[in-house]
Amino acid sequence: MSEKMNIRRDSGQGAPLWLLAELTYRCPLQCAYCSNPLDLAARQEELSTEEWFDVMHQARALGAVQLGFSGGEPLVRRDLEALVGEARRLGFYTNLITSGLGLDEARIEALRAAGLDHIQISLQAADAEVAAAVAGSPKAHARKLAMARAVKAAGYPMVLNVVLHRHNIDQLDAIIALCAELGADAVELANCQLYGWAHLNRAGLLPSREQLEAAEATTERWRERLAARGQDMRLLFVVPDYYAERPKACMGGWGAIFMTVAPDGTVLPCHSARILPMRFPTVREHSLEAIWYQSTAFNRYRGDDWMPAPCRDCDERHRDFGGCRCQAYLLTGDAGATDPACALSPDHHLILAAREEAAADTRSVHELTPRNIHQSRVFCRE
Ligand code: SF4
Ligand code: FES
Repeated sequence: MSEKMNIRRDSGQGAPLWLLAELTYRCPLQCAYCSNPLDLAARQEELSTEEWFDVMHQARALGAVQLGFSGGEPLVRRDLEALVGEARRLGFYTNLITSGLGLDEARIEALRAAGLDHIQISLQAADAEVAAAVAGSPKAHARKLAMARAVKAAGYPMVLNVVLHRHNIDQLDAIIALCAELGADAVELANCQLYGWAHLNRAGLLPSREQLEAAEATTERWRERLAARGQDMRLLFVVPDYYAERPKACMGGWGAIFMTVAPDGTVLPCHSARILPMRFPTVREHSLEAIWYQSTAFNRYRGDDWMPAPCRDCDERHRDFGGCRCQAYLLTGDAGATDPACALSPDHHLILAAREEAAADTRSVHELTPRNIHQSRVFCRE
C-alpha cells in the first residue's frame, strides 16, 4: 500500500473533492458585497501557469474531481484557456465562476475547445442603474446580458448567480423575469454572505425580514408560473444566515471535502479563512497532500473534539458542524465558538444586534465602500 493511502487511513480523513482555484484578486468590478479579503492589495503575487498546473496535478492525484476557477475575475488571467485545458486533461469537471467581463464569443469558443464544462455568470440587478451602482461600472450590465446569451448560444447550460441584498432584493420579480427572458436554465438567488468586503458593508447590505419574506414569496410565485408555462428554469433561493435559526453546514465541514487555493498559493479550507488568526500553508512551501492531511490549519476544526457547548452535546453537530468558523470569528473574535447564527448559541444576540444596526442604516447603495485596490491599501496600512 502506498504512503498516500496510509496517511488517509491513519487520519480517517477522506480526500478533498472540490478544489476552488482563485486565480487572481484582480477584477474590473468593485462590488461592495465581494467576499475577497480586505487586504487583497498585499496579496498580489500570483501563482504562475506552471505552478497552477502543478497544483491541479497534485489535487487530482489526491482525489479531487471538481475544479472551480474563480477570483477576483478569472478571465483577467490570459492563461485561463491553458489552465482549463490542463484541468480537462487531468479529468476534472470544470466550472468558471465569472462576472462575464473579459468574455467574448471568441473566448467562449476557446474555453469550450479547451474543455470547460460549465460557466456561471453573475448579475447584479434587473436594471442597468442599480447594477452600475452595485458593481461600480456603468457598462457591465449590458455586457453581462450579452455574454449570458452568448454562453447559451454556445451550448452551455446558462446558470446565473444573483447576489441579493437590501438594494436589489425588492427588484426580485424583475430579476427573475430577466433571467427567464434570457433563457436561464438555473438561477441562484443567493442572499449575500457577509464576509470580506460584504462584512465591512454589512449594515448597508442586510435586508429587512419583510424584504426577505417578500422575496421568498416572489420566488415561490415564479416557481409556480414557470411550471405552468412548462419552462424549465430552476430557482435556488439561499436564505441569509442572519435570518436563519440554524447555521449553514459551511463547506460541508472544515477541511472535509473542500479546499481553496488563493492567488498567491495559500491553501485554505474556505475562501474566507485567511481572516482567521492562524497561519495557512502555501503550495510554494508544502505539497497539497501534506497540507490536506497533516497541516495544523486543516486539522484545527475537523471532527467534533474542538466543539464548545452547546455544539458538543447537540444532536445536530454532525449535520451543520457547528456552523461557520469565519462567521464565528467575525462576530465573536473566537473562531472556535458556536456560529452565532445558531439560535442556541450564547452569542446569538450579536446576530440580533446586527439586524438592528442594519435597520438603522440609511446609506444608499452609492455610499457603501467599494471593493477596489485603493480602498484595500487603506486596510493594508491599518
Ligand atoms: Fe449546530 Fe451547534 Fe447550533 Fe447544535 S448548537 S444546531 S451543532 S451550531
Ligand atoms: Fe470560512 Fe465558513 S466561510 S468556514
